[in-house]
Amino acid sequence: RPRGRTAQWRPAVHFTPRRNWMNDPNGLVHHQGEYHLFFQHNPESSDHANLSWGHAVSTDLSHWEELPVALLPDDLGEIYSGSAVVDHDNTSGFFDTEPGLVALYTSAGETQQQSLAYSTDRGHTWTKYEGNPVIPNPGVADFRDPKVIRYGDKWVLMLAAGDRIAFYDSADLKNWNRISEFGVGHGSHGGVWECPDLFELPVDGDTGRTRWVLIVSINPGGPAGGSATQYFLGDFDGTTFTSEAPPEEVRWVEEGADFYAPQSWSDVPDRRIWLGWLSNWDYAKQVPTEPWRGAMTVPRTVGLTETASGVRITQNPVPELESRRGKPQNWSGVISEQGPAPEFSGAVLDIVAEFRLDTATTFGVDVFVGEGQRTRIGYDVAARRLFVDRTASGTSISPGFAATHSAELHPDGDVLRLRVLVDRSCVEVFGGRGETVLTELVFPGEGDRVRPFATGGQVRVESLELYPLR
Ligand code: FRU
Repeated sequence: RPRGRTAQWRPAVHFTPRRNWMNDPNGLVHHQGEYHLFFQHNPESSDHANLSWGHAVSTDLSHWEELPVALLPDDLGEIYSGSAVVDHDNTSGFFDTEPGLVALYTSAGETQQQSLAYSTDRGHTWTKYEGNPVIPNPGVADFRDPKVIRYGDKWVLMLAAGDRIAFYDSADLKNWNRISEFGVGHGSHGGVWECPDLFELPVDGDTGRTRWVLIVSINPGGPAGGSATQYFLGDFDGTTFTSEAPPEEVRWVEEGADFYAPQSWSDVPDRRIWLGWLSNWDYAKQVPTEPWRGAMTVPRTVGLTETASGVRITQNPVPELESRRGKPQNWSGVISEQGPAPEFSGAVLDIVAEFRLDTATTFGVDVFVGEGQRTRIGYDVAARRLFVDRTASGTSISPGFAATHSAELHPDGDVLRLRVLVDRSCVEVFGGRGETVLTELVFPGEGDRVRPFATGGQVRVESLELYPLR
């Protein structure tokens, strides 16, 4: 067990920095076998200050090695969020022999502007471009979080400007032209828009049927309070994003409390993978862990699926995580409100469950069960909602923290499938085929028991597998 006053809350399979503050993932790029994870980081303390890009790499999306800080504040300001790409054709002119990496980030000083840095040594050290900023501030307060993608033979960049997304294009990553804007009259405007992303995905794997997905984080104004991430499905023609949804429609990637500022990796063949910051601006600065503050979700595969209510985004843990599974405990049987329930233990688990609906009104699994405490992960049959109840989970870190969050989920016939990652101070709950996901921080006291539950009647547990993760 690692040492430290709050070591019991240090996740085992989720990335956390060794020390100090962390928020958004930045500069996610896959290059020469390494998945880079840069992140908003204060190298000096656990406060949101002195923002820099921390750095970690992985070759398997499951074990992370933290490297020296990649970008430190300079005359233009702190280093806020941004993205990175591989410049395969040396469009920037920074690379003589092999393709290198280019990062676009926000310089946050007196104003917010976009700057560039490049790396000729596989992302390990970075040089800031002498022509920074490459996109000066046009006279607005919130102007940040550039995300760059390749579109045909040009680069497209989008960033958050107030509660709009501004689009730019470029041939060389240094000179940018503003080409369009999206946002007026679309989606939720209860807060500032942040951290956009944009990618094209097939619906149910059918590459003949695709949608462009525009991701927009927003703070505050989320459905569970504070920060949340919305998405728009539509088309992108290289210049303009057109949403196919009715303008007033709001789609949340998640309605849980702790999934924010997700970003997808550039240059990963054949799949779209991303991760998010496992926190919420409502209380991120009160997270009671030390010497670190902040965690990422596990990397997840992102997809689209047709549901009874239309096309929806799906998320599932990347298959690579299964390499960390040990020998499972298995169970099947019937659970009822009064009857006995089997009991398991573990604080770092990958739980896979299949329930058959019966007379129970709610059912699911309690984790981090201890004296008077539990985190309840359940399904409300009448409401058709998946929920996480952290009202009795342990330490509450802010007034609204101890709450229940839920989101719509339809059973498949009378079968309900759940996958739950449990990791010392968080749960990630994937419902159905990943069309409903809830991500929540918890700070449990002593107690790592796990047990299925039912209320109001009985439920059949077709299978319950608990894999320890290591
Ligand atoms: C999102 C965000 C970004 C900004 C960064 C600063 O969580 O507010 O908009 O670039 O965090 O740390």
